[in-house]
Amino acid sequence: MFKRVNKTSHLNRRWVGYVAALMLSLGLGNALMADHGVTNKRVKARVELMTSQKGALSVLTDMAAGRRPLDKQQARSARKSLINNTKSIRKAFKRIEMDPHSLARPSLWTNWEDFELRASSAHKAAKNLNTRSMNNLRRSLPAMIQGCHSCHDRYKRHDKGFITH
Ligand code: HEC
Repeated sequence: MFKRVNKTSHLNRRWVGYVAALMLSLGLGNALMADHGVTNKRVKARVELMTSQKGALSVLTDMAAGRRPLDKQQARSARKSLINNTKSIRKAFKRIEMDPHSLARPSLWTNWEDFELRASSAHKAAKNLNTRSMNNLRRSLPAMIQGCHSCHDRYKRHDKGFITH
């Protein structure tokens, strides 16, 4: 019994470390997440979509990491929000719109099919999120985070992070 508890907490620690690393690499550990002074209306809308995804994802990662209690209703609504938002990514980016403060790489429009593919993988991962138990949540969450990460890796700029104006 004692052994089992130890083993579980060891797994928990590994899981928390893994997810924390992924969240950091997404730039999601950063509390300063405003719209960077974006003025273009459509760019603003897509940044808001992303920020809201970040909010929903944080609810689930906080629960999975034990930073807040697993509340099934909140978890379900975070999942639903991720499903809806990932579904809207395609439409939010379809028009070529830029803003000096945008973090989008223009290459996303010249690789549109690939961008769409990444959006739809993220959508699938959101649908595959399972919030019925802690184990299911922990099992299904990494694919969701990787879904965000895989698109950011290629189509979101990382080099503007230090600009403060
Ligand atoms: C198909 C591509 C794609 C997917 C999937 C994706 N993102 Fe994004 N994300 C982007 C792009 C492109 C930007 C930059 C938008 C801009 O600044 O114009 C961005 C920006 C962001 C930002 C920064 C907003 C800011 O402060 O400027 C956050 C936070 C974010 N995404 C969170 C997420 C989360 C959480 C997920 C997964 C649930 C996710 N994204 C999935 C492409 C994607």
